[in-house]
Amino acid sequence: MSILKVSRLGHPVLRRVAQPMSLEELRAPSTQKLIDDMIETMKEYDGVGLAADQVHESRQIAVLEVADNPRYPDKPKVPLSVLVNPRVTPLSEDMEEDWEGCLSVPDLRGRVPRYKNIRVQTLDRDGKELDFVATDFHARVIQHEWDHLNGKVYLDRMRDLSTLTFLQEFSRYWLNV
Ligand code: NI
Repeated sequence: MSILKVSRLGHPVLRRVAQPMSLEELRAPSTQKLIDDMIETMKEYDGVGLAADQVHESRQIAVLEVADNPRYPDKPKVPLSVLVNPRVTPLSEDMEEDWEGCLSVPDLRGRVPRYKNIRVQTLDRDGKELDFVATDFHARVIQHEWDHLNGKVYLDRMRDLSTLTFLQEFSRYWLNV
């Protein structure tokens, strides 16, 4: 497995709508290797999720996992999952604001409103159809990655930029707010 270079804000790949995957493409060894490399890359940089466009591949694939993560120490765990061609539907209008960061927007965090309850229809890495409900932080991570696959970053979702903060200032001024 390899650790891949992460695209940063300003690279056009982050603003493209990623290409849907056919089952044939998904099952190709090169795609399966890309998925393994994405998982490796996410773990290397302590991410809780990574979309393919963040490693310069404009394809509808995202990986996520929340384990013992030093960047998000207080968050509930989410098992390692691979989303392919995901569709997200909010199940209610309920939204919640919380902090997000992004490996493509290094060193910054901001407060982002997200739907609390969503339905997720997706393929897994083997092409199996999954249909499940995600809530709270799990739902947040999926919406963040889903946005990447649609050419959006979390900054686009902030109500305004007044909470945007560098990590050092986050620890100093915002951690206990
Ligand atoms: Ni991100």
